[in-house]
Amino acid sequence: MKLPYAESHKIKMVETIRKSTREEREQWIKEAKFNLFNLRSEQVFIDLLTDSGTGAMSDKQWSEMMLGDESYAGATSYYKLKNAIREITGFEYFLPTHQGRAAENVLFSVLVKEGDFIPGNSHFDTTKGHIEFRKATAVDCTIDEAFDTSREHPFKGNIDLDKLEFVLDSNPPEHLPMIVVTLTCNTAGGQPVSMENLKAVRKLARRYNVPVVFDSARFAENAYFIKKREAGYENKSIREIVREMFSYADSMTMSSKKDAIVNMGGFIAMNDKELFREASIFNIMFEGFVTYGGMSGRDMNALAQGLYEGTEFNYLESRVEQVALLGQKLLDFGVPVLVPFGGHAIFVDAKKFLEHIPQEEYQAQTLAIELYLEGGIRGVEIGTLLADRDPQTRENRYPKLELLRMAIPRRVYTNNHMEYVAVALGNVFERRKEIKKGLRIVEEAPILRHFTVELERV
Ligand code: F0G
Repeated sequence: MKLPYAESHKIKMVETIRKSTREEREQWIKEAKFNLFNLRSEQVFIDLLTDSGTGAMSDKQWSEMMLGDESYAGATSYYKLKNAIREITGFEYFLPTHQGRAAENVLFSVLVKEGDFIPGNSHFDTTKGHIEFRKATAVDCTIDEAFDTSREHPFKGNIDLDKLEFVLDSNPPEHLPMIVVTLTCNTAGGQPVSMENLKAVRKLARRYNVPVVFDSARFAENAYFIKKREAGYENKSIREIVREMFSYADSMTMSSKKDAIVNMGGFIAMNDKELFREASIFNIMFEGFVTYGGMSGRDMNALAQGLYEGTEFNYLESRVEQVALLGQKLLDFGVPVLVPFGGHAIFVDAKKFLEHIPQEEYQAQTLAIELYLEGGIRGVEIGTLLADRDPQTRENRYPKLELLRMAIPRRVYTNNHMEYVAVALGNVFERRKEIKKGLRIVEEAPILRHFTVELERV
């Protein structure tokens, strides 16, 4: 028999988590104004809010913490990280930032201005936020297949080249500062982009002389999918695939809290020295001097080590397959989940799950609340709340996909936890018809409202 995958780590330290009662949860969610971001973590049994910064660092990463050099300028930790980034991505220059959105803030301060258009696959909300904050427009050019949650396609994160070409063609070059490719495409369900597509986007971008930026938070999971699904890559190592991926980008932003398995950190990397110089100015202003930019030396050390661990095949296999295990169990219960399963999360199609509740009543948020009440599990809404209002008309934007995301932290939960989650959501699915009403907004912020929104039952 072929041996199955097994985790490429064993456990040295554990953290106790506590189950609560349904009555306690009813009380807590009311106090939290039906916003899961407002819950205290002790009120949550299994926390699938995000896979960002929630991973478990290895013994080697913790050892690296002790070796951190906290010098203001020129720390050894900076050079260690610089070498790791160069080795893994191929980029010559880099700037550390405190997390991914800070990387966006710095890079976009150089590249983006009012009236610009920034095409790409579905932009993540902070990316879109930083674009719209600068009075520019993010244009979603993801392939149509991505918007059908039950449609199988190996690379649903791909950019539709015709849609991209239309944007490049119909806007003046001075208003096209970059194309952003998000790897994997979180908003589309943690879906990968194929190497062929990356290559084609680069070719088109060259023709129009527009730089390509990779939003790289889950680049290693993207590489894993290329190895598993794209012809010609089955015998290449993850690192070889990663190097080829980045060869099609001019620069990258990184939230290190995902595939680099650290709790905090980010960076920008590029080959263009002039861009590096310009971005350095904003980095110094917003983040810190160029050799630490918002990160402690010890954290840069742990990040360098995490970049190596995060690009090992055996680790990636157990990571991505654990997510798939949850997805498969849910499918077995008949729950409408987005297929193929994402690399970092399982996305539940709330429009199908709660089809009797209107989208105006925030189906995905309603489902997230029900899952919390059922099992103390915290997921997150990727739907109308997240989509915010249109910056011009101030009307609600109703996205094509209304999803509940259950993101799996790296190296944190066991497959038994996945079983528990599947049964809990399966139970909610059984009694879905008893959920009669959704939610309405009481209070909201003008941008990135989902973090602080206050809701009540309709
Ligand atoms: N890009 C992508 C694709 C992301 O998923 C995120 C964060 C960011 C950029 C911003 O990075 O959080 O370090 O500032 N995603 C988290 C999530 C928050 O839960 O998916 P950050």
